[in-house]
Amino acid sequence: MTDAPAKRLFIKTYGCQMNVYDSARMADVLAPLGYAPAESPADADMVILNTCHIREKAAEKVFSDLGRVRAYRSERAAEGKDMIIAVAGCVAQAEGAEIMARAPFVDIVLGPQTYHRLPEMVARAARAHDGKTGAKSAGILDTEFPVEPKFDHLPAPRAEGPAAFLSIQEGCDKFCTFCVVPYTRGAEYSRPVADILREAKNLADSGAREITLLGQNVNAYHGVGENDEVWGLGRLARALADIDGLSRIRYTTSHPRDMDDALMAAHRDVPALMPFLHLPVQSGSDKILEAMNRGHTADDYRRIIATLRGYRPDMALSSDFIVGYPGESDKDFEATMALVREITFAQAFSFKYSARAGTPAAVLRTQVPEDVKDARLYALQELLLEQQRAFNKASVGRTFDVLLTHAGRHPGQLVGKSPYLQAVHVMADPKHIGAIARLKIVSLESNSLGAVWADASESTIKTA
Ligand code: SAH
Ligand code: SF4
Ligand code: F3S
Repeated sequence: MTDAPAKRLFIKTYGCQMNVYDSARMADVLAPLGYAPAESPADADMVILNTCHIREKAAEKVFSDLGRVRAYRSERAAEGKDMIIAVAGCVAQAEGAEIMARAPFVDIVLGPQTYHRLPEMVARAARAHDGKTGAKSAGILDTEFPVEPKFDHLPAPRAEGPAAFLSIQEGCDKFCTFCVVPYTRGAEYSRPVADILREAKNLADSGAREITLLGQNVNAYHGVGENDEVWGLGRLARALADIDGLSRIRYTTSHPRDMDDALMAAHRDVPALMPFLHLPVQSGSDKILEAMNRGHTADDYRRIIATLRGYRPDMALSSDFIVGYPGESDKDFEATMALVREITFAQAFSFKYSARAGTPAAVLRTQVPEDVKDARLYALQELLLEQQRAFNKASVGRTFDVLLTHAGRHPGQLVGKSPYLQAVHVMADPKHIGAIARLKIVSLESNSLGAVWADASESTIKTA
């Protein structure tokens, strides 16, 4: 592909699936410069930390990890080898100048909207290093939101396995009062329909059986299609389902406000649309939902779930919750617990509210004490875990179509995903990776389900 000398690239990814997608794209744009994956940062000619700013812990971790990377660079310098260090992602976007000041040894700081320009930045950093191992370049900071969408400048991605990610939407205009995403990712943007269909076809042609459509507000998708018509996510899902070889479609993360009927009805009509939805509700208290600027009530959420379950009775649900948002009383928290008991979730993520500088909620005087947040988080997680266990336990004895994605930890074992996003393992030949197998669930482990072939012979496998 290239005559550039072989170099090693190590990318550490924090945060959400959009960052996972972005890390893969960064590797793609650097491949023509001769960068191939490194096993560890110690062997790398270039290290990128692709960071997350969502909660304080996530952001602080970057600085401790940078210290470690710097130590690797010193060790390499002693051997006469060089290393370029870059910080990408949402901490870079929000705290670019602070990174330059706190960690002046960093060569490149780039935001999520500028990584198509990485080759140019790397060339500049390399020139600055030229002959000075372990040296710092002038320090390159590129965190603007360029007018030209980066997607137009990225090479076409290929699938790296049977399950692939595809970013269709970025950014957020909703400004929930606790959240940094509108500031780190910028305004909402939907990629054109034709670009998405082309990328999906490429992924399917290179082996993807399942595509997860990504966006901070994926169901707010409103991309331009043929004849300048605007398509929503429901219509897009229907078109994607027609692509040869593509058997499964998922999407994340959705917002309750954008859960329109066209999308919900697609769950009834499009078998490829998997019966699993991550739909964050954050809280069950209307007072807190309003204070958060979520733009929906607990009853709105209940109605959406009822409609979805009307269309697709086996719909499994997931959500995000924040406990201890400023002003949250015991009664508000109880409303969250009541909503969880009523809806029942197959899985969920829950967090203590973390004040983020620059967001409206951070300056409220009604901050909830840490010990109260701890107790609420504990109670909520106990309840959610109990529901998750019950959901998984009810799967034992049932037969599912499982997409086998990779080898398991034990020899001879393959791991896959049920329609409900449960991890399933089975003894099977590696040649079946990429197949959708009919498996009977026979056991419940702590984080996965154990299965056997539903029909005695492996020959009955559907290959998509
Ligand atoms: N766009 C998605 C959420 C993206 S952030 C949505 O609207 O649902 C992922 C999750 O992180 C959020 O759903 C929320 O539960 C959590 N989160 C965001 N900001 C937070 C904060 N300041 N403190 C604690 N959790 C937060
Ligand atoms: Fe953040 Fe709210 Fe936007 Fe989700 S909808 S990314 S929580 S501001
Ligand atoms: Fe984190 Fe940025 Fe994703 S803040 S959750 S990496 S959009």
